[in-house]
Amino acid sequence: MITDCPTISTRLYVNPSLFLFTENNAIYLWDYANGVQFEVEERYLGRIAQIATNPAVAPDAELDEELKANHIIAEKPFPRSEWGFGKPAEIFHFATRHPHFSLSESTPKEFTAAYVQSCEDQFSDAEYDPRVRREGPRIALPSPDLERLRALSLWECLKARRSCRTFDGRPVSLAEISTILYATFGEVHGPWTHLTENGLRELGIRRTSPSGGGIHSSQAYLIAMNVEGLEAGVYFYNGDVNDLTLMSSIDVSTSLPGYLGGQPFVSGAGAGIFVTSVLSRVWKKYPGSRAYRVPLLDIGHLSQTFHLTAAALGLQSWLTAAFDDEQISALLKITDSTENPFLFLALGHGSGDQLWPELLNYLGPFSTGLPGEAKVTE
Ligand SMILES: Cc1cc2nc3c(=O)[nH]c(=O)nc-3n(C[C@H](O)[C@H](O)[C@H](O)COP(=O)(O)O)c2cc1C
Repeated sequence: MITDCPTISTRLYVNPSLFLFTENNAIYLWDYANGVQFEVEERYLGRIAQIATNPAVAPDAELDEELKANHIIAEKPFPRSEWGFGKPAEIFHFATRHPHFSLSESTPKEFTAAYVQSCEDQFSDAEYDPRVRREGPRIALPSPDLERLRALSLWECLKARRSCRTFDGRPVSLAEISTILYATFGEVHGPWTHLTENGLRELGIRRTSPSGGGIHSSQAYLIAMNVEGLEAGVYFYNGDVNDLTLMSSIDVSTSLPGYLGGQPFVSGAGAGIFVTSVLSRVWKKYPGSRAYRVPLLDIGHLSQTFHLTAAALGLQSWLTAAFDDEQISALLKITDSTENPFLFLALGHGSGDQLWPELLNYLGPFSTGLPGEAKVTE
């Protein structure tokens, strides 16, 4: 007896690295792991949705062949890398693993020509100023006390650096603030004469830390809480002349832990620095998404310079990135929508203990029972 043949269904799989976005009245499908974009019609989207929700769906020869040829669907599951962060981080990570251009095949002459051309393209406006300025009253700083930075060896500073969570409320001096700002964010080398002497424009600045492209998009905002000779407030640091611009006379010494995810460790610190980056300065030179890594890497370098300088001054330091960017931008009175805070650095006196004493008091349930542990007191 002849019966109707059942519809043959194959298992199909959708590429898990797809991202959908709309622009200019069109829908685009972006395979971010392979860096390929397609403008897609609704019928393809419908087909992808069918397969995604029912892998054993009946075949549709025409659409499936095209989707397969473009690695949007396949008959075998797509290999997946292990991933523990959320989707936005996954997209950024996989979409930016490859540089968007390479000059590895070019001769030195071609390399130079391409490099100069890319600089010309990005910096055709003669107005570009590699220094950021903020409006407000200027406050002089004493000269940096460089003698104090000569007292300890590099090795002693490296060994002394540790994250302190026990500041004791003693003030820091204005000379110490001047020294640490200058050593970390100051233009200690002066104007970049090596460029100008060779007929090149001074499009970057130099500090003691390296910076991708010499851009130094990172800016320092001093949070003065207990600094001898300086009113409590928020100040912008001008690294070429080693002075401050007053942004606001707010005293955040009691509210600061609230800004930092509730972390009480910062209590008793004399001062802190929020490090921001003006991202538009980076994308002006490097518009590819991969270059978002540059300000993050820059700030890592600056942070270590800050901690080593603190150690050289015999001070304690701490850091955190646990804050709400919008809240901190409002505190710093940031008006440029392309500037964003990334890190907070704290400075003060203290025992240098890495464990907050209150934490030790309440650690009981998590203790390993090893000797030397503090006991729960309540
Ligand atoms: C990017 C970054 C973020 C950090 N965030 C915090 C933080 O939010 N709170 C904190 O107490 N320590 C923070 N730390 C400090 C680390 O906990 C600390 O470096 C680590 O425990 C090692 O201790 P050590 O710095 O004393 O060597 C951070 C460190 C880095 C590099």
